[in-house]
Amino acid sequence: MKKVRKAVIPVAGLGTRFLPATKAIPKEMLTIIDRPTIQYIVEEVVASGIEEVILITSDGKSAIEKHFDYDYELDNVLKQKNKQELLAELNHISNLIDVVSVRQKKPLGLGHAVKMARKVVGDEPFLVLLGDDLVRSETPCCRQMLDLYEQVGESIVAIQRVPMEQTRNYGIIEGEATGHERTYKISRMVEKPAPGVSDSNMAIIGRYLLMPEIFEILENTTPGHGGEIQLTDALQALSNRRGMYAYEFQGRRYDAGDKLGYLKAIVDVAMSHPTLGEAFKQHLKDVCPCGPSPKKISC
Ligand code: G1P
Repeated sequence: MKKVRKAVIPVAGLGTRFLPATKAIPKEMLTIIDRPTIQYIVEEVVASGIEEVILITSDGKSAIEKHFDYDYELDNVLKQKNKQELLAELNHISNLIDVVSVRQKKPLGLGHAVKMARKVVGDEPFLVLLGDDLVRSETPCCRQMLDLYEQVGESIVAIQRVPMEQTRNYGIIEGEATGHERTYKISRMVEKPAPGVSDSNMAIIGRYLLMPEIFEILENTTPGHGGEIQLTDALQALSNRRGMYAYEFQGRRYDAGDKLGYLKAIVDVAMSHPTLGEAFKQHLKDVCPCGPSPKKISC
């Protein structure tokens, strides 16, 4: 079984849901406390043991590359001011992992974005993480998927159950439970089904572990839902060809590309923050007349 070493992170999207904040900065650079959302995603990848990140970018996204780069001038200024903690933090970011960028020249859909990584990924299985989906968990979501991959040796999508009225916002999978905990063998996948098209509520979140055959399939995938080349359509073909699993990951997932989801993610991160957490929880108690229990706050 080939080792998974690379993670593809498409970041080419315009971020219209966050305008005007995203007029001049990439949505992936919106901060959760003091780190941009993309850093949380890359840290999940690093904590899962991955060696290389491939960003699929577009015009106006250079701030993301700069964030993970070494900044010689800033480094010098911080050294002169003896800001050791900040220096360490910045070095940590620039040493996190090797980052490679590939341009998606036209916004033709998620499937098209992933296809752009073909040359850099080559003939090996790889991960895809969507920058909008922030997962908070003890074991990183990607690590959970890699552990399952070591047992099943096939493609895996992470899923969560959503209310039926929300299925039209997701790729939805149908399948049968397998002997493995939280794992389903996929029989059908539909991108953003209209009401009545599927009675499943198992929604794909932005974490995929894919066999390299997906690239060849993507070359021949025609536009689907919304006129875009959909990754979900290519996944259906891959699943027909060699089987695919859905894994109900353990943790809390936030859609940080949505205003409310973003706020919820901030609250979750803030509550467990090493220096701000306790004061923030106290503040929540102070401002809420009913005194929320931290355990009850979820996505
Ligand atoms: C994408 C995928 C969809 C998936 C979702 C998860 O949709 O196409 O299958 O369920 O991400 O966040 P998007 O939210 O980019 O429209």
